[in-house]
Amino acid sequence: MSVTETVSTGLAPEAGAPVLELIGVRAAYGPIEVLHGVDLTVRAGQVVALLGPNGGGKSTTVKVAAGLLAPTAGELRYAGRPVAGISAERAAKLGVCTIPEGRGVFANLTVRENLWLATGTGTSRDKVEDAAYTRFPVLGDRRDQLAGSMSGGEQQMLALSRALATDPAVLLLDELSMGLAPMIVAAIYDTVAHLVEEGISVLVAEQFARTVLPIADLAAVMLNGRITAVGAPADIAADLSTAYLGG
Ligand SMILES: Nc1ncnc2c1ncn2[C@@H]1O[C@H](COP(=O)(O)OP(=O)(O)O)[C@@H](O)[C@H]1O
Ligand SMILES: [Mg+2]
Repeated sequence: MSVTETVSTGLAPEAGAPVLELIGVRAAYGPIEVLHGVDLTVRAGQVVALLGPNGGGKSTTVKVAAGLLAPTAGELRYAGRPVAGISAERAAKLGVCTIPEGRGVFANLTVRENLWLATGTGTSRDKVEDAAYTRFPVLGDRRDQLAGSMSGGEQQMLALSRALATDPAVLLLDELSMGLAPMIVAAIYDTVAHLVEEGISVLVAEQFARTVLPIADLAAVMLNGRITAVGAPADIAADLSTAYLGG
């Protein structure tokens, strides 16, 4: 593999340049193919929503994009460069970061211990804590509380802070809203919407379109392992209702 620098600093993509691309991606669990040729592009400065009913392949697409699952065919590109066979660890080093399912916090560690573990080389504990508490003041109030004893929304804020501590260029989020009250979801997505101002591009997989459409620049609908529509969020409402109702 020839990619030696991060997606963010290595190629300094200008706004609109592709930072993450899936081209004709197929993926399978054992003998069962679940992605049947997925094309998806996230450009610098975009929040892209990946929508569609349960079982459509959103999480699998996120896993492929994060290097957690190798495609069986097609191509994965970071900042225009093919990264076939990349590992999740390497993907993270290149600036493509995902929050694992189950929120990715250590329940039996405190908030600050969770943040400390997220510090990469060169980032101080204080800096990571400061950034997290500025973004989500409630985390500062709870810095010595065990993460597992916090509400789902607070844990999601902590997970997001941990992911951001790695200074990602591309953030992949999967069902951020799962199990959370609508007001909390709105607050978290409001934060996500502002990440682009920090140079972070975002791919969000969500079954419930309503929560993420307001902050998306582009929306893709996924059904049975294929992208069935891509467009401006306002334009794909019709495709969405077909996807959810048509089954
Ligand atoms: N670990 C797994 N092993 C086998 N099949 C899986 C696994 N994860 C997901 N699948 C199957 O892959 C398909 C796509 O699932 P998934 O990517 O989770 O969709 P979504 O996130 O849109 O709900 C579904 O049919 C699901 O049952
Ligand atoms: Mg899913």
